[in-house]
Amino acid sequence: MTTENHIQQLPQTHTNTENHIQQLPQTHTNTENLIQQLPQAHTAAESHIQQTAQNHMTPQDYMRLALQLARKGEGRTSPNPMVGCVVVKDGKVISTGYHEFYGGFHAERNALLRCPADPAGADLYVNLEPCCHQGKTPPCTDIIIEKKIRRVYVGCLDSNPKVAGKGIQILRSHGISVETGILEEECRTLNEVFFHFMEHRMPFLAMKYAMTLDGKIASETGDSKWVTGEESRAYVQRLRNRYRGIMAGIGTVLADDPLLSCRMEGGRNPVRIICDSRLRIPLDSQIVKTAPYQETILAYHRQEALDWRRQSNPTASPDASLTDTALASESQCSTEKASLASFHAAQKALAAQGITLLEVPLQRQGDSAQLDLRFLLQALAERHIDSILLEGGGILNASALTSHLVQRVYAFIAPKLIAGSAAKSPIEGAGIPKMSDALKLGQIETSVFGKDFCISGRLCDN
Ligand SMILES: NC(=O)c1ccc[n+]([C@@H]2O[C@H](COP(=O)([O-])OP(=O)(O)OC[C@H]3O[C@@H](n4cnc5c(N)ncnc54)[C@H](OP(=O)(O)O)[C@@H]3O)[C@@H](O)[C@H]2O)c1
Repeated sequence: MTTENHIQQLPQTHTNTENHIQQLPQTHTNTENLIQQLPQAHTAAESHIQQTAQNHMTPQDYMRLALQLARKGEGRTSPNPMVGCVVVKDGKVISTGYHEFYGGFHAERNALLRCPADPAGADLYVNLEPCCHQGKTPPCTDIIIEKKIRRVYVGCLDSNPKVAGKGIQILRSHGISVETGILEEECRTLNEVFFHFMEHRMPFLAMKYAMTLDGKIASETGDSKWVTGEESRAYVQRLRNRYRGIMAGIGTVLADDPLLSCRMEGGRNPVRIICDSRLRIPLDSQIVKTAPYQETILAYHRQEALDWRRQSNPTASPDASLTDTALASESQCSTEKASLASFHAAQKALAAQGITLLEVPLQRQGDSAQLDLRFLLQALAERHIDSILLEGGGILNASALTSHLVQRVYAFIAPKLIAGSAAKSPIEGAGIPKMSDALKLGQIETSVFGKDFCISGRLCDN
């Protein structure tokens, strides 16, 4: 496929800011087309194109290139950020690098170690402040100083307290000129998961749903395959690769029997998190059957699971007509034993499949009680799950939203109408009584995937 064909097939975007939704390389101008070709330029003709392009490049152009390089690490750097680096000397890009995977060298080190020419006196562009601490790899500030870089252009500061401004200070104290805030908003958005996790110690939760033009995520019969077209669904696979976890309610598991895997070529499966307070998940569901191959966590509540077993086995429950108290209490005792045995059997069978059973307390919401999602997310954060794609359905989505746990929404909208007052909508629950109290989204991005739209934005104040 030629580059032009490839570009034509990219979804279209309608915002001026760098569109983080589309992580495929995007092109807006001829210069950016050329920028895209820089890291892959191998032939003399391509080198010539590079040099022509570079004569007109601004710090923002180089930072855009660093951002494109950074995105190559998508799905592999977590819990580290995605970082790209461009080394420019005498108006030419002499080297590039990016953080390729968690535990691997950082972007700056990769770019400087692979530099074919002496980088002394060069400018270095990097979307995140260079680190100054020894982690899995040595500090990036060391190699920047050692290689005698003249100027460093930084997209945004690191909020890791071990770095947070210190990286820049160290570079300046060694006589290196540092300019910060180049495409700062785009740089922060690219690593919104990293910043959120670092600043709140909670996973970044992105709610994704696909609905018809009349706002339904499934028909009255519960049928939901498929609301959107192939292009949207392919993009959802990219999202699954990007986020560390994927969460769904037991209602969705029972209705759709989904896999919740990442089927993108070269993609990484997210950790599946199923909210199932009563441990109702069928042992022959796809989630359970594939659990030995894809990490799966089931959030449940012991008493809810026991109560449900007691109530769903009426033959074993105490007979209200029994007048003999001894008989009634014997019957009750055998009901307790049966529900306990059934609960232990379910626990054992699920654990045998490699599923982690996570006990979560309940939180009262009006008359009902549901798993405490904040507690659950804190427990997931402790397991280094920094980001979660929430794939509902509507009941779970409503809980997450009203608990103020959602940071981003991806709403895919298909040009279809299915009608029906009983057909499910993306966010159920009691709702917000007044329009003036509606939860609002900012940083809106709209994209087109085939015939569908995707509107994405950050929830303000979350
Ligand atoms: N088009 C789309 O984007 C899309 C995406 C997903 C689903 N769907 C459709 O949505 C439908 C299922 O949605 P649904 O709303 O019925 O079910 P759901 O949201 O998937 O699951 C709801 C259930 O999850 C459990 N749960 C555990 N903790 C919870 C908490 N803190 N808050 C809320 N629920 C919690 C509850 O069952 P327990 O009390 O038993 O634990 C609850 O009844 C299906 O028809 C599916 O096809 C469509």
